[in-house]
Amino acid sequence: MGLQHAAIGIDVGGTGIKGAAIDVTTGEKISTRHKVATPAGGAPADIAREVGSMAAAIRAELAAAGFDSSANLPVGVTLPGVVRDGVMRTAANIDLSWIGTDAHALLSAAVAAPCTVVNDADAAGIAEVAFGEVSGLPGVTLVLTFGTGIGSALVADGVLVPNFELGHLELDGFTSIERHTAAKVIEREGITLDEWASRVSRYIGYLEKILNPDRFVLGGSISKASDSFLPFAGVTVPVVPARLRNNAGIIGAARLAAEAIDPESSNSAP
Ligand code: BGC
Repeated sequence: MGLQHAAIGIDVGGTGIKGAAIDVTTGEKISTRHKVATPAGGAPADIAREVGSMAAAIRAELAAAGFDSSANLPVGVTLPGVVRDGVMRTAANIDLSWIGTDAHALLSAAVAAPCTVVNDADAAGIAEVAFGEVSGLPGVTLVLTFGTGIGSALVADGVLVPNFELGHLELDGFTSIERHTAAKVIEREGITLDEWASRVSRYIGYLEKILNPDRFVLGGSISKASDSFLPFAGVTVPVVPARLRNNAGIIGAARLAAEAIDPESSNSAP
């Protein structure tokens, strides 16, 4: 069996690292989903080691399943901060020494292959454009991911505007709104899902007022519970859960990695 339309996607968050091999023409997984806890502190060398082990484990799983050339699969990795030209520029929920780190070089060495690095919310946005809620939709979509932090991706007529950061807005007396409204605060502060949802409703209502998107797509770890908190009162445009749920980052990273090697890879029929 060949792997000409496959890539590995690994999604690095402040709490967990998740990955799988993906068929980039369909967005479907072709390996199991691997998951480990983010190493305490989230230092570059520690995260790089986990990413390297996960890529190796996914390749080994594919080789054992009879796939050829799993060793050559491109790898895409998301990081929870601004990534420009392969270099990390911010780090809110991982070690500060990521700032200025050449993540492309570090992670390419860790996975022993050229590695594409991208902001986690941007990867989720790319996946939702390709296979999810934003597929074929005109206009402006704001994809918001709620997990350890708040990620945001702006998509205009199917095109991503990278590194559009809305999780650190100053609002309601909080210098960074993600400290008050990320999914992590449910556990950190021991609040109910209803209390959290009312904070998110206020935040999204504010974003609607200043940015006027055509719709919001909610992803991240909380998206699997969306039936319990949608719709939000006070938001007039549609707010829908990410169709790819918490796998959007993995899928978007894999797709970008495949396109970096062959821009046509995600278009061709398998
Ligand atoms: C970071 C974003 C990231 C988000 C979700 C925020 O703290 O600034 O870049 O997308 O967390 O991980």
